[in-house]
Amino acid sequence: MSEGRPLVLYVDDERANRIVFEQSLGTEFRIQAVPDGPSALAVLDREEVAVLVTDMRMPGMSGEELLRIAKERKPATIRMVVTAYADVEPILRAINEGLVARYIIKPWLRPELVQVLRWAIEAWTFSRNSLALYSRLMETERLATLGSIAGALVHDLKQPLMSLLCNAELLRELAKSSETLERALAHVPLTVDERERLIELLRDLDSVTSDLRTSTLHLSSLIDGLRELGKPRDKATGTHVTDPLPIVRHAMAVCQELAIKGHASILYEGPTALPRVQMSATELTQVLINLVQNGAQAVAARGAPQGTVSIVARTEQNMLELCVRDDGVGMPPEVLGRVGTPFFTTRAEGTGLGLAQCQRLVGSAGGRFRIESEPGRGTTVTIVLPVAA
Ligand SMILES: Nc1ncnc2c1ncn2[C@@H]1O[C@H](COP(=O)(O)OP(=O)(O)O)[C@@H](O)[C@H]1O
Ligand SMILES: [Mg+2]
Repeated sequence: MSEGRPLVLYVDDERANRIVFEQSLGTEFRIQAVPDGPSALAVLDREEVAVLVTDMRMPGMSGEELLRIAKERKPATIRMVVTAYADVEPILRAINEGLVARYIIKPWLRPELVQVLRWAIEAWTFSRNSLALYSRLMETERLATLGSIAGALVHDLKQPLMSLLCNAELLRELAKSSETLERALAHVPLTVDERERLIELLRDLDSVTSDLRTSTLHLSSLIDGLRELGKPRDKATGTHVTDPLPIVRHAMAVCQELAIKGHASILYEGPTALPRVQMSATELTQVLINLVQNGAQAVAARGAPQGTVSIVARTEQNMLELCVRDDGVGMPPEVLGRVGTPFFTTRAEGTGLGLAQCQRLVGSAGGRFRIESEPGRGTTVTIVLPVAA
């Protein structure tokens, strides 16, 4: 009778993992465990496999390669990955390419895995004969998965951030003693130059540490925002009112370093006073920083001697229009069509979350978001925000 049950194929190069998987799930599912990609492909060719669960990091054929071939040869098989947090990058790729429906973080718990496998078998059973049903299912899955990846990222990012914050607090304590330290320097044998240099550093310490603290807190609230990715937000709660001009200045200052490296100047063009908008300061900061950074990166990517990223502000009726315009590389239509999809990126070090986040934040503030771009000419991102009453 067991032959009649849908087959779950598990691929992992570590024998211990295979044993645990088989023993803890074998009572409920029909499982075959193999140590590498080629053996998995042999099983896929020979038998009808409902669910393929693979490890990512394996010697020889990687999980990603296996998934790609499996998708090609047996598109109806539900593909999943079991992996560690550190592998988030290949997972993102796999999800964006539709290679996997779900991923499971190691160490997994039996009840969780049982549920996921039950779901997968059900999904396979009712969509194996309909491609349309299958792709709709995968899209829903993809969105759900993105949400949980964002959660995992948040979790990983929070740790170093908290230690940064603690250290910033410690430095602030030191800064409080800077006058005492300065007096103490008078009693230490030093050259005039050395003494002056140290005094200069001590005097800057207070502002440097408070900047450090502010940026860290800002980062922390941005990361909290990631957690919200994918969740629809309640418009009624967005009652923040923000003066956009200081935010524009702040975003310009934060991006300055990146811009200088990329040979871009950042400019503001617009009135010296702007109406207040209905959006929280943190969110507007986040949107502008993302857009200006993208602009600066696009200028850098063009490799011309010098380029410009301008923030252009204009008020119209009850709306404020902010354009972030760059004369960078621009985007070909196929990229333009996909930007804003979470995790879509063309940059090696990109996350592909920037524009997705911007669109979500502007949308939930009741605003509009538009991107225009021409390859070789540049890009203009326009956001239109409702002005506060
Ligand atoms: N101003 C721009 N000019 C050219 N390409 C852009 C610009 N902004 C975004 N892009 C393209 O959109 C992709 C997604 O951007 P984004 O969502 O900010 O994620 P990331 O910056 O992490 O790649 C980028 O990888 C890039 O290809
Ligand atoms: Mg970006």
